[in-house]
Amino acid sequence: MLTELKTKVVQMSAQIGLKINHLEALIEVPKHLGHGQLSLPVFSLAKERRKAPHQIAIELAQQFTNLNNPDFLKIVALSGYVNFHFRNDLIQNLLFSTISRDREQLGHGNLGQNQTLVIDFSSPNVAKPMHIGHLRATVIGQAIVNLAKNQNFKVIGLNHLGDWGVQFGNVAWAYQNWGKEYPFDEKPFQSLYQLYVRFHQEAENNAEIAKAGSDTFVKLESGDPEITSLWKMIVSISMTEYERIWNLLGVRHELIRGESFYNNRLEEVTRELEEKKLLVESEGAMVVNLDVEGMNPCLIRKKDGASLYATRDLASALYRMNELKANINLYVVGMEQTLHFRQVFAVLRRMGYEWVDQCHHISFGMYQFKDVGKMSSRKGQIVLLEDVLGRAIEMVEKIITEKNPALPDREKIAQQIGIGAIIFNDLINDRVKNVEFDWDRVLDFNGDSGPYVQYCHVRCSSLLKKYDHPVHFQNLSTFSITELKEVEEVELIRRLIEFPDVALAAFKQFKPHFVASYLLEICRLFNQFYAKYRILGEDKNLEKTRMALVFATQQILERGLKILNIPTVSAM
Ligand code: ARG
Repeated sequence: MLTELKTKVVQMSAQIGLKINHLEALIEVPKHLGHGQLSLPVFSLAKERRKAPHQIAIELAQQFTNLNNPDFLKIVALSGYVNFHFRNDLIQNLLFSTISRDREQLGHGNLGQNQTLVIDFSSPNVAKPMHIGHLRATVIGQAIVNLAKNQNFKVIGLNHLGDWGVQFGNVAWAYQNWGKEYPFDEKPFQSLYQLYVRFHQEAENNAEIAKAGSDTFVKLESGDPEITSLWKMIVSISMTEYERIWNLLGVRHELIRGESFYNNRLEEVTRELEEKKLLVESEGAMVVNLDVEGMNPCLIRKKDGASLYATRDLASALYRMNELKANINLYVVGMEQTLHFRQVFAVLRRMGYEWVDQCHHISFGMYQFKDVGKMSSRKGQIVLLEDVLGRAIEMVEKIITEKNPALPDREKIAQQIGIGAIIFNDLINDRVKNVEFDWDRVLDFNGDSGPYVQYCHVRCSSLLKKYDHPVHFQNLSTFSITELKEVEEVELIRRLIEFPDVALAAFKQFKPHFVASYLLEICRLFNQFYAKYRILGEDKNLEKTRMALVFATQQILERGLKILNIPTVSAM
């Protein structure tokens, strides 16, 4: 919707013969409503016009004003900017007509037309439970999936399941030797994880055990049938566990391409590296030197012939670009793997693949709990994702029981709010930063939380339900007879029209928190409006128009929550 407004400014600039490079991109949305809806900085003209920006802005504002365009209340200069104040009813109609026209498509763009975006997200390591760290890789990933779909990309969400590597040798060996001591029939996954932890504890002080694990992996890599069937069992027990969590979070991958998928492609990668004269021997292992790039060598094959995480990532990048025909290839993985991806991308560049510029590591910071030290899954002291989700749901149920015991469907709603709270608490943070996990904040219904946004949406929906003149919102624009003029209304409308641009910016920078904080802002503005003005029971036309604003708010909150993969609730 902002685009329509910007276009008007661009057209008028042409009319007055104003030439500024990338004029449209320069136009800003001023922070304060008092400064209008759009603002054009003119600093770049100072040199050629040999005048102070302030003076230039005054002159331009006058020229724009002289055009007598009826769309504007006023066009004024303010310290080096020309500020455009559009007429309120014009903005209001723009909002209402866009909502009635776009409906489900509200906030969609076309950036990804005929393009494929592959996104590797929430790729856990088999035999280990998903911990709170995986929450980020999961919810940030799913939000980017949704943002990309909004931009009309063909999206392939890919699970690069960690189902290969020495640890499978370790767990398989542990199973062969200690498996009988664990209740695999009742608690398959927990038993598996206990084996994993025990192996690492014992191997720490016993080199023989460590070696036995590595040897077992070499057997697995060479296709030993017994180890292979053990491996299959380990993978399937783990997947059952992960699927439960993905279901809770409403997450879905289009493709599972675990690390093992690349086994029969590794030789080819190695051969290609050899042919391109990139592979060198180092202490019996094969590596690609990256001194020029200022990094340690990238290990391709170990002394014992075993492949590595990086080798499989090289094969997988080739697969995504060549076979899945990705135009953009994303890896939503924690910051601690930054070096790994820099190495992999550097090797690909050395191989001559310019498309590596389309590969991006979407990194993110860690969760920080006050009471739990650094998490380590080897020692078994981790904050399990499932526990966090379960606890959130439980706490919400308690709150509901206290505050609204008559609420129907309590269990389902508690789940939607609990899950929503955890997702929102993650996505409200700029992903590159660490997240402080504080239960009070996560579940603060009046604070900057998921429940706060869900509640505002419920409030809009129930107003719409109460309104006993079912307006044909399909054609909102035709009945917006009354112009909404109160500052709270104007401010809310002004922010609502930004939704498509916020979603676009969030996609371009792969930063879902743009959407999350935008939704908070909308809720804050809506609640101010709601607290101050009567909506139902007003003069008929005013009532109708205010209800249209409620509807617009509800629609945008709904689309925004959908992008974040947060469920909307029917009542709370
Ligand atoms: N399984 C890895 C982990 O949990 C994440 C995989 C990320 N994707 C990749 N292509 N390396 O640390």
